[in-house]
Amino acid sequence: MRDITKSETSKEFQFSHRDFERVRGLIYKRAGISLADSKEEMVYSRLARRLRATGISAFSEYLDWLEGDLENTEWESFTNALTTNLTSFFREEHHFPILAEHVLKCEHPVNIWCSASSTGEEPYSIAMTLCEAFGTLRPPAHIIATDIDTNVLNTAARGVYGADRIEKLSSDRVRKFFLRGKGAQDGYVKVRQELRDLITFKQLNLLADSWPISGEFDAVFCRNVMIYFDKPTQGKILKKFVPLMKHDALLFAGHSENFLYVSDEFRLKGKTVYELANASSRGRAGSGQFRRGSV
Ligand SMILES: C[S@@+](CC[C@H](N)C(=O)[O-])C[C@H]1O[C@@H](n2cnc3c(N)ncnc32)[C@H](O)[C@@H]1O
Repeated sequence: MRDITKSETSKEFQFSHRDFERVRGLIYKRAGISLADSKEEMVYSRLARRLRATGISAFSEYLDWLEGDLENTEWESFTNALTTNLTSFFREEHHFPILAEHVLKCEHPVNIWCSASSTGEEPYSIAMTLCEAFGTLRPPAHIIATDIDTNVLNTAARGVYGADRIEKLSSDRVRKFFLRGKGAQDGYVKVRQELRDLITFKQLNLLADSWPISGEFDAVFCRNVMIYFDKPTQGKILKKFVPLMKHDALLFAGHSENFLYVSDEFRLKGKTVYELANASSRGRAGSGQFRRGSV
């Protein structure tokens, strides 16, 4: 019989190292997320909530239930529980002036894909940048914002944030792009409707064989998500970006992500900004026929 460790017995739910290994295997297969050994406690606390919510008393039983039915709606909550959604408005700020300069050179309408949009701060920062670049709240542009996690997409679509989330923004941006809540909404801000109108939110798993998205984009944001994937997975995803990008499109990566080691399809253009390696050979000639990015 297997020994039960002291930490297992002191927990609300039995959680063995084997349970952790099973979770690791399942989330890797489903979302491409590689969980390090150090994430055992995190996995316990996040999934313990799901056991409470479903009334299941042991991890092994919960995992058997999931594995036994690929159509189980609990898969969505399981995945949502294991994603890490840290983000902020104008995170890695140096990207936004580069985007502003780039979009002014693009044909209209400008199409941008934000591929791990989390709770929305990133696509709204892109939208604000577009408004500022074109000097209007209705720039000739569209943003598709996707994420695997349906909870964060709902938050993003609502566009309501604690006022502390915009403390670091300039007063000019706050005035132009946010409404302050009153009464029950005191302490909250809402992104203006014009910004929300620029964005379509949609669930998309970067690991899936086919993506519910088409068109050719002027820029793709893929920031702080590849770090959760192993190199072969990163390489596969980068390869799939190529046909979705215009010849002169930019790919924005997170501060600790280096795509040069996993793909020869891209070359570095600036700090964590990439362009297609064969940008010039794909040429400008056909650019008038490019389709609008769509979902
Ligand atoms: C740390 S957040 C980064 C958010 C934003 N891009 C930024 O840089 O601030 C990572 C996001 O990637 C999403 N994610 C994880 N695995 C994914 C997958 N397989 N497909 C799509 N999105 C995924 C998570 O749900 C999470 O919202």
